[in-house]
Amino acid sequence: MSGKWLKLRSIGTNDNRSMTKELSQLDKSLFDFGPLANKYDCWYGTSAGQSHDRVQKQDVRCLLRPVKYYKQLLDVGCGTGHWSRFFSSLGYQIHGIDISPEMIAVARTVVPECTFDVADAYNLPFGDGAFDVVASMALLEFVSDPAAVVREIARCTKLGGSLLIGTLNRLAPLNQQRLSQGRQPYAAAHLLTAKELGEMLRPYGKVRMAASPVGHREKLPPLAKMLPQWVRLSRGSLSGAFIVAEVQT
Ligand SMILES: C[S@@+](CC[C@H](N)C(=O)[O-])C[C@H]1O[C@@H](n2cnc3c(N)ncnc32)[C@H](O)[C@@H]1O
Repeated sequence: MSGKWLKLRSIGTNDNRSMTKELSQLDKSLFDFGPLANKYDCWYGTSAGQSHDRVQKQDVRCLLRPVKYYKQLLDVGCGTGHWSRFFSSLGYQIHGIDISPEMIAVARTVVPECTFDVADAYNLPFGDGAFDVVASMALLEFVSDPAAVVREIARCTKLGGSLLIGTLNRLAPLNQQRLSQGRQPYAAAHLLTAKELGEMLRPYGKVRMAASPVGHREKLPPLAKMLPQWVRLSRGSLSGAFIVAEVQT
């Protein structure tokens, strides 16, 4: 149980209505990202953050093809819109949603080319099959019932479309270190393994996954670097810090 939960429970009953609202919001998310909204993207300014970001985006490019014609992508748990901007650069029309109004406010400012709204991943305000692709990056580890969120994501995905899920890899050394240090927001999260994610996604279609470690491509022999990305992916490692999985529905 997080410190905020404990604090809220001991506040008393002066303003029960707002307290209930805050409690139920925390129930939907294992960590309140609101206070971090303005500094959330600082990680991408560090050299480690840039290296990880580059590798994660290479993995996503292997799994999600750029589009030349109009396709709709829903970014669930979009945060400050970091991935929304990347998906937009691949040619998709983006709608991002997040439970945190503060994260959505930042996203609207820094990624004006996309549409953003406050909404809950457990109860997406869209019809069945409304999107060609539904993506969620670093969200599943921050919800208490990831399978229910995946079900909702699949509901909003068009038949013949794709689910794209990115999540922190519980078995990666970097994440083990973060967890052992008890650092937030990692300490509040429930991290998955590639096996657990694969089992959760399999009911929806064929699962393809990547989790390349940083420096992996540099270590490949020169000829291997010339192979098409999908061949590298099929021989690739799942030991990196961030697992990306794609399912064609
Ligand atoms: C680790 S951040 C990831 C943000 C962004 N996807 C990224 O990778 O930069 C997790 C995000 O999920 C959001 N979130 C958590 N629970 C949610 C829920 N039930 N519905 C919608 N968003 C949620 C948080 O507010 C936060 O912005």
